[in-house]
Amino acid sequence: MSNKKEPANTGTNSAWGGRFSEQTDAFVEAFTASVQFDQRMYKQDIAGSRAHAKMLHKIKVLDNDDLNAILDGLDAVEQEISEGKFNWSIQREDVHMNIEARLTELIGDAGKRLHTGRSRNDQVATDIRLYLREQVDFIVNEIKRLQHGILEVAEREAASIMPGFTHLQVAQPVTFGHHVMAWYEMLSRDASRFIDCQQRMNVSPLGAAALAGTSYPIDREFTAAELGFSAPTQNSLDSVSDRDFAIEFCASAAILLMHMSRMSEELVIWSSAQFDFIELPDRFCTGSSIMPQKKNPDVPELVRGKTGRVNGNLVSLLTLMKSQPLAYNKDNQEDKEPLFDTVDTVLGCLRAFADMVPAIICKHENMYKAAKQGFSTATDLADYLVRQNLPFRDAHEVVGKAVAMGVATGKDLSELTLEELQQFSDKIQPDVFDVLTLEGSVESRNHVGGTAPEQVRKAIAKARI
Ligand code: ARG
Repeated sequence: MSNKKEPANTGTNSAWGGRFSEQTDAFVEAFTASVQFDQRMYKQDIAGSRAHAKMLHKIKVLDNDDLNAILDGLDAVEQEISEGKFNWSIQREDVHMNIEARLTELIGDAGKRLHTGRSRNDQVATDIRLYLREQVDFIVNEIKRLQHGILEVAEREAASIMPGFTHLQVAQPVTFGHHVMAWYEMLSRDASRFIDCQQRMNVSPLGAAALAGTSYPIDREFTAAELGFSAPTQNSLDSVSDRDFAIEFCASAAILLMHMSRMSEELVIWSSAQFDFIELPDRFCTGSSIMPQKKNPDVPELVRGKTGRVNGNLVSLLTLMKSQPLAYNKDNQEDKEPLFDTVDTVLGCLRAFADMVPAIICKHENMYKAAKQGFSTATDLADYLVRQNLPFRDAHEVVGKAVAMGVATGKDLSELTLEELQQFSDKIQPDVFDVLTLEGSVESRNHVGGTAPEQVRKAIAKARI
């Protein structure tokens, strides 16, 4: 008796055994399986099955008994999984077939009717959308929590003076509150990018079936509404194949992490002995096993580092999708691990930051001293001279000379005497010292978006609305 004539094997490959004359190679079975990671979408898979079963009942493909058996059976399966009692099996390949097979074990033939007019291709496309849609809510909430922490710091430090930098050289004095409110703005855009991509992903591929739709008179609006989607997708081929929504999500994540890496870098620099502007509480730092004096800013360093994997995940998905012909290809199974890793990484980084940022301790004296050291009020002196009618280019020249004298004598501009300053221009009067102080400088930048403490407080108030 030749193997070829054997009927389909039982147990393994029961979903397509009819067509096959030999068992899948054991290694190939494991190699092609995705259940190890796609089981995290079990809730979405079950929700999709409930909606699909109700729709099949509505169009009279399932009778009352079948529908009830399926709904009760899905409840039972969901409970088994959530209680950790479910036996996930590699032979059943993925989350979809594991659940369906268990459902059939529990309720018999009704379980086998669930897959009418459906394919794993539209099923998985639906599951990922449902899953990501929810994760976006979690991510946006966590961004908001971080933003609240930033507002707390900004409020506390609205008038704390530090050097503002360009080229990492002292440029002009700013307030620490103003600086962290810049972070706030970046994060607002990040949140809106996620919400934007959530809206675009919120359409239902269910009913696209394998690729061409189905011969059953399905009601796609019904399943879309059941699952909280805004509408069904409009082309079945596109529905099962494109993962652009996942790519968009990963792009939003990469931009967020890029921002967080910048914040991280600043926290690392500021907490170094050379800057010494801030201290991070001990609970967010670690020590060294060999150097007893060390206190390392591990949390911001790790977040900075994790930006690499999030960027990598984005590139993975772009590369995965590139040049894929329509419609579904098994390549797409590779979308999940980078996607899930991105979700986990983003949520972890946000959580760490949201906990840590409000606990930043500012070392006001050091910041103030640093702002004084870099001739940070040079522009204020130039602006002063312009108000005395000197053309800006000439004013620039005058101030350059005053700075050179400061460098030579080791003095800040505000420490030069009136006589010393007047050597460079007779337009300099005693009131010049009002603008040469750091306080005068920041207070004068009093317009929307400026660093004046009053503006920082206004920005905070606006953010709190
Ligand atoms: N595990 C598969 C995935 O993640 C589900 C869809 C499989 N469809 C198929 N025709 N093999 O993409």
